[in-house]
Amino acid sequence: MTDYNLLDSQLHALLDEEPDALAAAANFVALLYNAMPDINWLGIYVLRGDELVLGPFQGKPACVHIRLDEGVCGAAASSLQTQRVADVQAFPGHIVCDPDSRSELVVPLIAHERLIGVLDIDSPTTRRFSEADQVGVEKLCESFCTLQETRKYFI
Ligand code: SME
Repeated sequence: MTDYNLLDSQLHALLDEEPDALAAAANFVALLYNAMPDINWLGIYVLRGDELVLGPFQGKPACVHIRLDEGVCGAAASSLQTQRVADVQAFPGHIVCDPDSRSELVVPLIAHERLIGVLDIDSPTTRRFSEADQVGVEKLCESFCTLQETRKYFI
């Protein structure tokens, strides 16, 4: 069971004084990747124009460009709703980056009321992500986005 309150404190300790948006994003991803058990990939896809582009991540090399009408990430970005997918093989249009992935949690990142990207977490276990994980990760993304709003540049 991940302690999301503790992670939120650690996130603030790492990022509150960091003015560089990209460095903050890289450490956000590294913090979560190392704190969450049973995951094989975790990273940010950044909104660039009308597509998502691979940003800071941990795990195997992944696909770089994702259209907004493609995959779980595109669904989260275009609907602005978290996608919690219990079995990726049952998700129409799921994009296979790491063939080990079985379930996925994708949270839209919204700063200044605009989509800036998505946080994507993959697990090799089906049904890995509970509702508590969704709520906890959404809260961390909210903290991250609030901090991004104070930077001169977004990721
Ligand atoms: N599976 C994602 C693509 C990104 S990778 O999992 C890293 C999707 O369907 O959008």
